[in-house]
Amino acid sequence: MSEPRKILVTSALPYANGPIHLGHMLEHIQTDIWVRFQNSMGNMCTYVCADDTHGTAVMLRAEKEGKTPEDHIKAMQEEHVRDFRGFLIDHHNYYSTHSEENRYFAELIYTRLKTNGHISTRTIRQLFDPEKEIFLADRFVKGTCPKCGSEDQYGDACEVCSATYEPNELVNPKSVYTGATPVEKESEHYFFTLPEFQGMLREWTRSGTLQDSVANKLAEWLDAELQEWDVSRDAPYFGFEIPDAPGKYFYVWLDAPIGYMASFKNLCDRRDDLEFDEYWKKDSKAELYHFIGKDIINFHALFWPAMLDSADFRKPDGVFAHGYITVNGEKMSKSRGTFIMAKTYLEHLNPEYLRYYYAAKLGAGVEDIDLSLTDFAQRVNSDLVGKVINIASRCAGFIKKGGGSLSDNVAEPEMLAAFQQAGIDIAGAYERREFSKAIREIMALADRANEYIQSKAPWVMSKEEGREQEVQDVCSMGIHLFRLIAIYLGPVLPAMSDKVKAFLNVDSLNFTDRETVLTGHAINKFKPLLTRIEMTQIDDLIEASKEDAAAEAKPGPKAAEKKKAESKQDKPEEGSQEIEFGDFAKVDLRVARVIEADHVEGADKLLKLKLDVGNGETRQVFSGIKSHYQPEDLTGKNVVLVYNLKPRKMRFGVSEGMVLAAGGGDELWVMEADSAVKPGTKIS
Ligand code: MSP
Ligand code: ZN
Repeated sequence: MSEPRKILVTSALPYANGPIHLGHMLEHIQTDIWVRFQNSMGNMCTYVCADDTHGTAVMLRAEKEGKTPEDHIKAMQEEHVRDFRGFLIDHHNYYSTHSEENRYFAELIYTRLKTNGHISTRTIRQLFDPEKEIFLADRFVKGTCPKCGSEDQYGDACEVCSATYEPNELVNPKSVYTGATPVEKESEHYFFTLPEFQGMLREWTRSGTLQDSVANKLAEWLDAELQEWDVSRDAPYFGFEIPDAPGKYFYVWLDAPIGYMASFKNLCDRRDDLEFDEYWKKDSKAELYHFIGKDIINFHALFWPAMLDSADFRKPDGVFAHGYITVNGEKMSKSRGTFIMAKTYLEHLNPEYLRYYYAAKLGAGVEDIDLSLTDFAQRVNSDLVGKVINIASRCAGFIKKGGGSLSDNVAEPEMLAAFQQAGIDIAGAYERREFSKAIREIMALADRANEYIQSKAPWVMSKEEGREQEVQDVCSMGIHLFRLIAIYLGPVLPAMSDKVKAFLNVDSLNFTDRETVLTGHAINKFKPLLTRIEMTQIDDLIEASKEDAAAEAKPGPKAAEKKKAESKQDKPEEGSQEIEFGDFAKVDLRVARVIEADHVEGADKLLKLKLDVGNGETRQVFSGIKSHYQPEDLTGKNVVLVYNLKPRKMRFGVSEGMVLAAGGGDELWVMEADSAVKPGTKIS
């Protein structure tokens, strides 16, 4: 066997100012599958990541929450790590850019750039908020567009007429933080002299390190004039101060990719088998790959290699960009409930469903990827449950009945060899990040295995006397094929792989094990490996994501508690949007009488209401009021029903409308109508 490859892999460092969502998960699942595949092939592949903690946004966010930035990023990191674990992402180290290692490397690299003459300084004029005493980046100034006169436009571009301009060209500019009128102020900034690397970058971007479409895009930029890159920011800023430049900080994007090194260094210090220099020195034989989203290509394929080049470190062998996640064909949206956070997903669905679906859709390109929720459920159910697991569940029982060991001989040696041989193509597809191709080939194998079992029909044979050995041979064959399929799916489904190991009574299911055949081998009892997705689980996930978005739009729980303690009177909610009468008239509100109210088995928030809605019609409505009302409190009452709300299928049944209530959280009152009103009466 050839020497194992030494490979270091990274995913982009998530910002420490927001939660992990299914967009981030695309990247980490893609990277994790690739890393697990490499290790399954017997290579030594290490995967590091970290939180990207610096910058104005993090500083202001912490301030708003009344915390120090350090406390804020610590809490964020704990959440991020928990979410990634939940999705079985096996980072070998998940670190922070706010670390001593990162400070060390940021200073080292900067000092080398400076020594090499690649840092220039110049005074720039920038808008400044005189109240908050902070320089204002383009997006933090709003005003009237100088071209078309539209109000409330950002400092860099008008969303109405698409004009681009400098922030000081805005008419009547205002600071987004305080509303103060910004003033212009001078400040000395430090620049990285990127244009000096044009030649090196032309060559490097064309050397096979990038996807073709990315290399072509960069060629356009490289043919145009490159600009010097502003790498300093003025205090107040959360980050590292620039050596010998008091009050000046490294711009977050300078020390962010250096965070890859810092995380790796931190890991090396704990591991005897990893040497930092072996991976990062200029002539390193180890491979280095960055997985990133298409929005941050310029940082990884221009600035970063140029910095490494100047600072005498090795450059990456590959920068692999992926596209964006859309949900049901559209950008993730908070109001549609498709801005799905990792945490919320995990509260409703198994992580391996999403790992499988992403793998089935991912190619090596930068196209966006659609998470179509019905397709997601169908695909997982039909491929994993219907095809793959079906093979094992059809064969396992007969093996158990026949004594629990696989046959000593292989019934179909040619078919087995073909399945082993298929591993070469599948490995090639994984290596090139053509995961969808790998999955297609694996599912074709699953189809063949099922056809084989179907044609032999061991369940028929088993009823015929004298065919016991044949049944064992066929079912053993089925298990051999299942094992190979499980090996090929291992990088995608690590938890299922562990369950298969227990079932097959083996220690490892790596690509390197595929020549082994378990003839005469005792296996264990088969336990269900994965259950079907029910559409109601997906409905609940969307509903929960809408609630997340609503909760986020309101002040956080702590702030809400504080507010409640301060004042009892409720002000109309800020930001409440005006509507036309016609919008209101669309809502058909009616008086309904509660005929029955019941607890719902397995639901801790819901009561089930049976309502008389007039004209002899009754409706069933599930209402989230269980913690505030006993069923008997409600029977006989007149309530307000949204009569024309689209029925919603819930886990416990269909809810045909919604009962109005005031308040929420700890205090909640169902809206009542006078007992004299007849059920069915319209409210307007
Ligand atoms: N902090 C920077 C990266 C620094 S790397 C040295 C950053 N952070 S981020 O949190 O905004 O994004 C992290 C990664 O997630 C990026 O690669 C980004 O492209 C990816 N995604 C964020 N939203 C995404 C989708 N909706 N879909 C797919 N990936 C997306 O950028
Ligand atoms: Zn305009």
